[in-house]
Amino acid sequence: MDKEKFYITTPIYYPSGNPHIGHCYTTVACDSIARFRRMQGYDVLFLTGTDEHGLKIEQKAAEKGVTPKAYVDEIVAIFKKLWSYMNISYDRYIRTTDDYHIETVQKIFKELYDRGYIYKGEYKGKYCTPCESFWTESQLVDGKCPECGRAVTEAAEEAYFFKLSPFADRIEKLLLETDYLQPKSRAVELVNNFIKPGLEDLCVSRTSFTWGIPVTFDPGHVVYVWVDALSNYISALGYLNDKYDDFDRYWPADVHMVAKDIMRFHAIIWPAMLMALDLPLPKHLAVHGWITFNGQKMSKSIGNVVDPLVLGERYGADAIRYHILREMALGADSSFSNEIMINRINADLANDLGNLLSRTVAMCEKYFGGTVHNVAGTEAIDTELETMVNELTAKVTADMDDLTIPQALMEIFAVIQRANKYIDETAPWALAKDEANKQRLESVLYHLCEALRVCGVLLNAYLPTTAPKMMEQLGLDASALDLTKTTYGAQQTYTVHKGEALFP
Ligand code: MSP
Repeated sequence: MDKEKFYITTPIYYPSGNPHIGHCYTTVACDSIARFRRMQGYDVLFLTGTDEHGLKIEQKAAEKGVTPKAYVDEIVAIFKKLWSYMNISYDRYIRTTDDYHIETVQKIFKELYDRGYIYKGEYKGKYCTPCESFWTESQLVDGKCPECGRAVTEAAEEAYFFKLSPFADRIEKLLLETDYLQPKSRAVELVNNFIKPGLEDLCVSRTSFTWGIPVTFDPGHVVYVWVDALSNYISALGYLNDKYDDFDRYWPADVHMVAKDIMRFHAIIWPAMLMALDLPLPKHLAVHGWITFNGQKMSKSIGNVVDPLVLGERYGADAIRYHILREMALGADSSFSNEIMINRINADLANDLGNLLSRTVAMCEKYFGGTVHNVAGTEAIDTELETMVNELTAKVTADMDDLTIPQALMEIFAVIQRANKYIDETAPWALAKDEANKQRLESVLYHLCEALRVCGVLLNAYLPTTAPKMMEQLGLDASALDLTKTTYGAQQTYTVHKGEALFP
């Protein structure tokens, strides 16, 4: 067991409605990182799950006339179905209703109380029920909830609070002086908005609803959402429970990925909780923008969601994966549009990648009965293609280290586009007319097979259904999907098999 470990997490999603393309984005991005790290030989633990407590779930269940647990069970099944459809290779799925998680949260809450970081007080504030969030006056937009734009109500209740001020200096340093937050450009905004004005203590228990984890030493209080939710990242490793024994191995996390809506909780509250518990801090918090639709965040409470299963049925899971990975940069928001998606699927996947494979395989069959060998290239364009192929893995690796996934895909597709151009330049159909060009023709086709193979290996992290199909048509099996064999010439012979179009 001397492999280096890599622990990556998605947020745990609220099962208050069906998953949408926004949830897919974070999960697919984490999946591609997890797959890439596995190919690199890391011992990966990839965690996802659902955040199942809270007033909103309690209300939704009541509307349907079922228990909250029955309500979430049904939606969790849909999340899991979607992840399986999208080929999400998570290693562990945590539900905050799991016994071991409840045990951990209760112990953490008690520990924070015993250490003097949690105290009892009264909460007064503006509350948005659909978003389950209290807001301060200054956070409201036109007196309404800044998240969903709906009316907020005045609310007050006895509650426990988590003291954040003792950690303000350390958190400010973490944000401004380390590479914890990615992109770092968001650090200043956080420090100015939340730390400089003085960190307000966080309300961590509620008495107005019951669907939550009971505070062991004060019945009537349930642990309020963020202490429950954030603890998932360590309860899932067995911290303060007997279900797993992986905490020493996998903690601290290498990457927590979230969207900007919950950045504050992961950039401030979570480090504070860990500091209060004397635990090491996660290495990176990767924050991406929102997928928007008509200019607004795509969200269940706004009601403008795109159902990934419907899209997937039409275009296939890898096409959806490609679209969201290619469009969404860490920094910015990205608007969802069917048009952009269809253009991308047509241009990159069907034309560039699909045609390169089908043309190459067809020519290998037509001119060489399917089998081509490594015949050295003699022209400058050969060397150019070989060099691009040889440099690709390092470029993609650097992009994955920086979490610039769209860039990684652009690099791969630059090679695919170069290979297509190489076909036009070498014109194999013209070479085939003269027996004297047989060697040259074989060299050309071999170059194309090598380019396709190496691109296929790398694409396996992003398009896990397509990459094995590419290998199959190149006459290779899954063992060819090997990151250590991505130099030009690593495969000496091909016996291709024509298959169906990759993206019909
Ligand atoms: N349960 C909390 C998270 C707790 S993590 C300890 C929560 N759940 S959520 O269901 O609302 O999911 C929020 C996350 O879903 C975002 O951070 C993001 O990862 C993803 N997204 C939901 N809608 C999204 C978009 N429209 N665009 C991009 N990502 C989106 O918050």
